[in-house]
Amino acid sequence: MEFEQRYKLYQRAAEEYLSGCFANQTPWADLYQSMRYSLLSGGKRVRPVLTLEFARLTANQENHANQDQDQERELLSGWRRAVPVACALEFVHTYSLIHDDLPCMDNDDFRRGRPTNHKKYGETMAILAGDALQAEAYKIILTAPGLEAAQKAECALILSKASGASGMVAGQVLDTLHETRGQEELTRVHELKTGAMIAGACELGAVCGGLSGGKISRENQIRRDTARNYGHALGMAFQIRDDLLDVIGDAEAFGKPIGSDSQQGKITFVDLLGVAGCEREIEKYTNQAIESVKNLDQDGFLTQLARNLAERVK
Ligand code: IPE
Ligand code: IPE
Ligand code: MG
Ligand code: MG
Ligand code: MG
Repeated sequence: MEFEQRYKLYQRAAEEYLSGCFANQTPWADLYQSMRYSLLSGGKRVRPVLTLEFARLTANQENHANQDQDQERELLSGWRRAVPVACALEFVHTYSLIHDDLPCMDNDDFRRGRPTNHKKYGETMAILAGDALQAEAYKIILTAPGLEAAQKAECALILSKASGASGMVAGQVLDTLHETRGQEELTRVHELKTGAMIAGACELGAVCGGLSGGKISRENQIRRDTARNYGHALGMAFQIRDDLLDVIGDAEAFGKPIGSDSQQGKITFVDLLGVAGCEREIEKYTNQAIESVKNLDQDGFLTQLARNLAERVK
């Protein structure tokens, strides 16, 4: 299957799942509306795509070492089990963006080409929509059909580590409240605020694919580490590209205001290394990501994804 086709297949599966969430009527429908506004506003769905591809690859490795083309349709269905978990991480990603845009954080008015959540629904609702999305993410994992109890527990642990006080939120604290000046410090911020969630998305896929449990074999542990390593390197390239697009991007394509980082007085990789230096770092981390999955990436999807993200404009 072509890269584009598979990306769209995964994206559609995530969109379908997400559009069924919070669709019922309640007396607090305004909360649901605010959550859906951000959940369904045209994100790229990079993280769910990663979860689903790692689920497909690892399920294949586990159960069907020598699959041939004819079986592809059937084998693909293995990744469908991971859709709820993929969307759980997307819930947390969405909450992180809603809060990231608040006046007390990055104070941004536009995201994905539309007013940010607090601009549309007010700050109180934006905070509460984020709070609810975070809690609901764990509900999705714990009630996911098709996964064993041990897999669900591992998924919940991975998501809490990726997003919590030694993961994404730690990165956001360093980014918004600490003075970050040098490349080493900035690398740490990026690893935490962005790399942790992207690596978590990859690892969740590996767990849903079957690489889980207390007695995981050495080979499978290596595959799981591979997923994490790929995600960490990809996350670095992804955030440096984000910093770069905040300077040289096109606001319409990017869907976010240009110059937001400098307006907030943030030092980014562009300040430290310039445009060409950022491009070199993006290339370095992209190659690192590609190299780390060379034994797992059977048909090159993860390689192509890393290359495309290195040149993304949105
Ligand atoms: C934005 O993430 C936050 C960063 C880590 C740079 P994405 O660029 O994946 O945002 P969406 O979900 O596609 O809008
Ligand atoms: C945010 O990084 C990463 C998060 C944890 C939300 P940015 O602040 O650079 O992300 P954008 O540019 O607002 O999407
Ligand atoms: Mg931010
Ligand atoms: Mg921001
Ligand atoms: Mg940014």
